[in-house]
Formats: sequence, structure tokens, C-alpha cells
Amino acid sequence: MLRVPPDQDLVVFGATGDLARRKLLPALYELSAQGLLPRRGEVVGTATSDLDEEAFRRFAHDSVANFSRTGLDEDAFATFASRLRYVPAVSDPAPKLAKVLKRPRRIVYLAVPPSAFDPILLELRAAGLARGSSIIIEKPFGHDLASARELNHALHRIVPEDRIYRIDHYLGKETVQNLLVFRFANTLIERIWNRDVVAAVQLTVAEDIGVEDRGHLYEETGAIRDILQNHMFQLLALTCMSPPSSFDPEALRDEKVKVLHSIRPVGPQDVVRGQYTRGSVNGKIMPGYREIEGVSPDSATDTYVALRLAVDSWEWAGVPFYLRCGKALCTRRTEIMLFCRDVPLHLFEGTGIAKLQPNRVTIRIQPDEGISLSFVAKRPGPTVVEQGVRMDFSYGQSFKTQPAEAYERLLHDALLGDHTLFIRQDETEASWKALQPVLDQMPPINLYAAGSQGPTEAEALLESGSWHDLSHHVGE
Ligand code: BG6
Repeated sequence: MLRVPPDQDLVVFGATGDLARRKLLPALYELSAQGLLPRRGEVVGTATSDLDEEAFRRFAHDSVANFSRTGLDEDAFATFASRLRYVPAVSDPAPKLAKVLKRPRRIVYLAVPPSAFDPILLELRAAGLARGSSIIIEKPFGHDLASARELNHALHRIVPEDRIYRIDHYLGKETVQNLLVFRFANTLIERIWNRDVVAAVQLTVAEDIGVEDRGHLYEETGAIRDILQNHMFQLLALTCMSPPSSFDPEALRDEKVKVLHSIRPVGPQDVVRGQYTRGSVNGKIMPGYREIEGVSPDSATDTYVALRLAVDSWEWAGVPFYLRCGKALCTRRTEIMLFCRDVPLHLFEGTGIAKLQPNRVTIRIQPDEGISLSFVAKRPGPTVVEQGVRMDFSYGQSFKTQPAEAYERLLHDALLGDHTLFIRQDETEASWKALQPVLDQMPPINLYAAGSQGPTEAEALLESGSWHDLSHHVGE
């Protein structure tokens, strides 16, 4: 049974920005339509655009019409719109905000670039709004270890850790949450989930979109800071963590942070960086990264990164982990693949079976969400000939419902005060710490054509085998 959060106001800084338009307003609308917003509470947008309340409601209407998961229902929108307020963030907005906010409990969403965090936090404090406020912030949480620590100090000067929600929207995805159920609710799976059985792990976050119109912003981040340090390290932590003592938020986050602390620092020799050039993606020409507005013509920003790392924990010591993420690749696919060890004895030598493919567990985070087990079977016939086969679980087929958007789940949790799916201070710092050596000494950029599988140099990172071929059908 889904709970209705206690009465509170929600303030969104950056309310007319891209994130608010594409994700936050549609998610809040969905929650409102399901009766999952607080019974009493305003949703107050604030941004530098000089809009009035009516114009902001029209903006929200367009955003819901274009991006909501279930589509726009005018009656449901009218109910949602009745709680929408707007305060332009021009000339000292804090006192105006203080007037609109009526409830002692409130949550403040910072959907703004990191450079705006500090001034907003100071304003909130000056206007006496820090008391009773919780803060939701978006990644990147700093751009290296030192800046992450500074940001955490700045936040802690305003609100304590238990009122900070660091969002990583990957944790709001159903398939990511299912990782824990898949692992810890199935004896069959948990027994093989360790160094005794697993020989190597590959994690992939491949995108077929480019940087598009975010050139200016992306120049500051690159793939390492945009995806690897946060989304991928969270996937890694969930893949490697030991069972928590309970599903209490701190118990869960304690186990994740142990994994992040166990990552052996990643140096430049473990990393291949790439940047895409003009090419064809799914039949369409995509301009190269350096052709994008706001990108320097000799930019050395990575739009792709691949690396190998070691998790020095009891369960995973000695198992190589290979991670890669990139934009403008040939396909969109996020998956975790565990390759099992070879069988101890090749009993079939001398028969028709030449080389046995290792068993593989694939968790498809998106698209075509599901899990598959690949193994070897005898092909019917008079001689012993092996064939790779697959057992498949597909969310779409098993549960004929459409899962909630990650932001719906996360906003609802934050309104309820549930920290389970948010990142704790020590998690961000541990992730940056593991990456600091490579951030200090970035290896050179290798170019790859848009629509390819990334730079071929990435192959050299693997001790044996190769990266799973992204041109194969999902699950193959
Ligand atoms: C965001 C990144 O965090 O995640 C984007 O900033 C990226 O660059 C996006 O495109 C990918 O999210 P998803 O949910 O489409 O995998």
C-alpha cells in the first residue's frame, strides 16, 4: 500500500530548466494523479525566468503533455496545478519564498548547476528557511574528492546529513532495485554470486544519443563525471555488496559504501578515454562532439570511458571488473554481465565440442528489462554437438504493468523521508577517492566514430576475452 507523505511544501529551484521540464514536473503530476503528494502542500517553482504564476502553469502543462508517462489528463492536471506557485528568482527572492511557504516542513530541490548551490544555500539560511527544510540535490556531487568534501561541508552548514537527499536516478529504476531481490531472495543466484564461480564482470551503459545541445555543460563533466562516478559505481556497489542486516536505509548504505571503499584506486593505466567524431547512428548522421555549440574545437573531454578495476573484498578479490559507458554508440543498452569460470575438466574433448562458452548471467537494466542465463546444451542429433542457449526473464512479459519513472519513486521517497535510495556523504566521497588518481592524470583521448562501439583501444584493457559485442541482439 503506497503511503501519502505528511503535509509539507516542495520548492524547486531551476523550475523552468530542462530537468524540471522533462522529469520533475511530469513526475510530480503523476504522483498528484495517484494521490501520492501530501494532502496539504504547495509546489513552488523558482527560477531566473521572469514568469508569473499563470505562465508557469502553462509551462507545467506543456511539460506534462510532452513528457508524462501516462499522458495528460486535463482534470488531473487542474488538481495538480491548483498547488503550483511560482516565485521568480530575481532581486532577493528569499523573503517572497518565505511568504508562499506555509508549512513548517518543506523540501527544497536544487535542480540547478553546481555553481548555483552555494548562493542558494546561503539565501535559504538568511531567510530563515533552513529550519525545517530537507534538501534534494542532483549530481554531480562535486567534480573530484576535494570539491565533493567542500560541497558536503557547505550542505552540512545548512542542514544535517539526515535531511539531505543526493539523487542518482539510476537507484529509482525498477530493474536496479530488483538487483537486490534477484540476489538476496534466490538461493540459486546468491550461491554463485562471488569469486568462486564468477571469473569476470562487465558493466555497460551505452547510449545512442550524443551530447546534443548540452555542449557547454558537458565540457565541464565528461563521461567519467557524468555517468561513471555515480550511476556506474552505484550499479557496481549493488552488484558487489554483501547482504545487509535489514532493509533499513543505513544498513543498506553501509554495505554499499564498504564496496566503494574496497575499490582499488583506478590509475591512468587502467582507463581508456574516447570522444566521438561525426558518424552515422541508427541510419542518421550525428555531428562529432567537437562540432557541438559550446564545445572547444580541441576539446579533450571524454564522451566514452572504459576501465578495469579490482574490488578488494572477501567475496570479489581477484575478479576483474570492466566498466564502460559512452555516448553516440551503436545502441542504447545498460547491462551487467557476469561470466562464470570454466568447468574444471573438458570432458568433451575429442567429441564435436570444441570450446565451451562460459555460463553467463545478464541483467538487462534497460531497455527490454530482464535477466537471462546463458548456458550450453546438447544440440539434438546422433553426435555430441554443443550449442549456447538462453533462459530469459522479461519484465514486460511477466508483469504486464508499466513501472513508475525513477523520479516519481525518488520524489515520493524523499517526501516520505525515506533515504534508502539516496546517496550518503561517505558514498560520494569513496567513489571520488577511487577515481582520484585517474582524475589527476587523465590518459589521452582516443577518437571513435559515432555509431561505433567506442574506441578499439578499449579492448586492450581485458586480460582475456573481449567486451560483449553491442551489435548483438539484447541478451545474446
Ligand atoms: C544522466 C546523464 O544522469 O543520465 C545523461 O547526465 C544521461 O548524460 C542520462 O544521458 C542517462 O539516463 P538514462 O535513464 O536514460 O539511462
